[in-house]
Amino acid sequence: MGLHRISRVDLAVPDVEASSAFFTEFGLEPTGPGRFATRDAGEQLVLTAARHRGLRELVLAAEEDDDLARAARALAAAGLPADVTDGGLATVEPATGVRVALEVTGPVVAPAPPEVFPNAPGRVLRRDEPAAAVVVDGPVRPSNLTHLVLGTPDLDASLRFFCDVLGFRISDQVPGVIAFTRCGDVHHQVALQQAPGTILHHLAFEVDGVDDVARGGTRMIDADAGRHLWGLGRHAIGSNWFWYLREPGGHYVEYAADVDRVDAQEDYRPGDWSGHDVLYAFGPPPPLEFLEPVDAGELLAAQAE
Ligand SMILES: [Fe+2]
Repeated sequence: MGLHRISRVDLAVPDVEASSAFFTEFGLEPTGPGRFATRDAGEQLVLTAARHRGLRELVLAAEEDDDLARAARALAAAGLPADVTDGGLATVEPATGVRVALEVTGPVVAPAPPEVFPNAPGRVLRRDEPAAAVVVDGPVRPSNLTHLVLGTPDLDASLRFFCDVLGFRISDQVPGVIAFTRCGDVHHQVALQQAPGTILHHLAFEVDGVDDVARGGTRMIDADAGRHLWGLGRHAIGSNWFWYLREPGGHYVEYAADVDRVDAQEDYRPGDWSGHDVLYAFGPPPPLEFLEPVDAGELLAAQAE
């Protein structure tokens, strides 16, 4: 019972065609103009033309109709709107102004990834053949849209909305800076970051393993080196491998793999994050632009209009 994953996001981008070309090369499957499916979770990305980039709508997947009824009651109790839509209900997150919709949608149904046979001192699993990852061809196919990181001008208020009203739980946090929240078992699905305004920092798509993170990132920057932002590295918080790219609209887009799953919060032992572990466990140092997107000033000025 309950919400369990991101179903879909609607992104505002200044040039739908340019962003569409990026996401197609990234490995998503076009399903219509400005619409994209992941390999295992159906249509998960919609691009809408707008002057400024950003998150227009976050659609969350509920398991059953009762979850929608429960959410409607919780929204009413919090004094928030709960508009009935075609597929469920929709409201507005009060701190960021982002539209958040809920609809009944199934889980990510992913095939088991191909077995890998890594060699290591003391354990040789592969002889007389190269590693499959270096001979495989074709684009990486992201399994699902696994998380997003949203900057909010009021972290506490956004946490009240996602946790107290919608039932998200905090897996990990750096208090006052960023909170990694989940509604299913994936360590973070919506991470909320204190920011001077509403800024979508990045979207992350889950792939089968670190080889696909590295292969996907390399293919994308082979085609256009200007897309590279940060990678290959591994986060400490949530453990995922990452490679961040820059899409033409200005959003950051991540290939992610091997993210923690959390069933019992009491058994999960988050670290006491400090130093660069807040950002990453290992990899190259992050560019300044990762910490402060170059268009942040422009986006904040537009919000103040
Ligand atoms: Fe991420």
